[in-house]
Amino acid sequence: MSKMPAVYYYDEHPPEADFYAEVIDGLKHRPRRISPKFFYDERGSELFDAICRTEEYYPTRTEQALLQQHAGEIAGLIGERCLLIEPGSGNSEKVRLLLDVLHPSAYLPMDISRDFLYQAADQVAQEYPWLEVHAACVDFTAPLSLPYCPPATRKLIFFPGSSIGNFEPEQAEVFLRNLTSVAGAQGSLLIGVDLKKDPAILNAAYNDRAGVTAAFNLNLLHRIRRELDAELDPGLFEHDAWYNDTLGRVEMHLVSQQAQQLKIDGQLFEFDKDETIHTESSYKYTVEEFIDLAGRAGFTSRQVWTDPDNLFSLHYFDVGD
Ligand code: TRP
Repeated sequence: MSKMPAVYYYDEHPPEADFYAEVIDGLKHRPRRISPKFFYDERGSELFDAICRTEEYYPTRTEQALLQQHAGEIAGLIGERCLLIEPGSGNSEKVRLLLDVLHPSAYLPMDISRDFLYQAADQVAQEYPWLEVHAACVDFTAPLSLPYCPPATRKLIFFPGSSIGNFEPEQAEVFLRNLTSVAGAQGSLLIGVDLKKDPAILNAAYNDRAGVTAAFNLNLLHRIRRELDAELDPGLFEHDAWYNDTLGRVEMHLVSQQAQQLKIDGQLFEFDKDETIHTESSYKYTVEEFIDLAGRAGFTSRQVWTDPDNLFSLHYFDVGD
């Protein structure tokens, strides 16, 4: 008889964000802004998966190639039967490139989106019947604790997709410092970080010609109109994204195409033509800049892999020195 897949569920009841209050607050702020966490309703999650498959968006496929190529070396660094922890695991797609080679004793996906997380965890457990899966519904940007933590097991935290770039650098440092305590003294971090490069390549990646990134960004306005019963015409905004060289980040904006008013629950918001709502930043790092940042948070660099075109980096860090 084949082994039954083992999945355990932990619900830490992450507090729900107040969409209404945060949107009102953000629109009053100057420059206007809305948190990127609100992108991911069902349609937003679909569009995000589609962005990762556009021709211009190189990070996903480049990182996947690096993971595939270096999985053996990564396994050599962490050793057998580690506890593999993935904050913000989403559909758990990339981790599949590691599981057979790493052969961890258990996999701990963590995500805020409960149904999506549990489904993905079930799927992984079915495909890898030898693997114990412990799925935890948490807000991984809040200080983390592990619901499952067998003693004397080395921990490897997996944080792909250059999601670290979506934090402000100071927040990234705080987040990484939290990860050192999750990983513990013998623990390690495997993290994907998008590299600084020719702005033309960056600008193309966030302005794909098929308009998928535009649809993703504009979906936020559709969501506001629908869920907050707002009087606003998403057609009067356009997506734009550009590399801000001074700050080392790609910025995504929604740009008002004319002078206009939005109305949410009786509150009026006056937009000038070309005024924008900042919806996301994606910081880019050189290899050295990122090793410095992680170093300030308490990690020591053990290995860095990059692709031949120097588009993307995969870092392996140990906690401490
Ligand atoms: N963290 C990745 C990046 O910044 C993926 C991502 C997050 C993204 N939000 C996005 C990609 C919005 C495109 C648009 O590239």
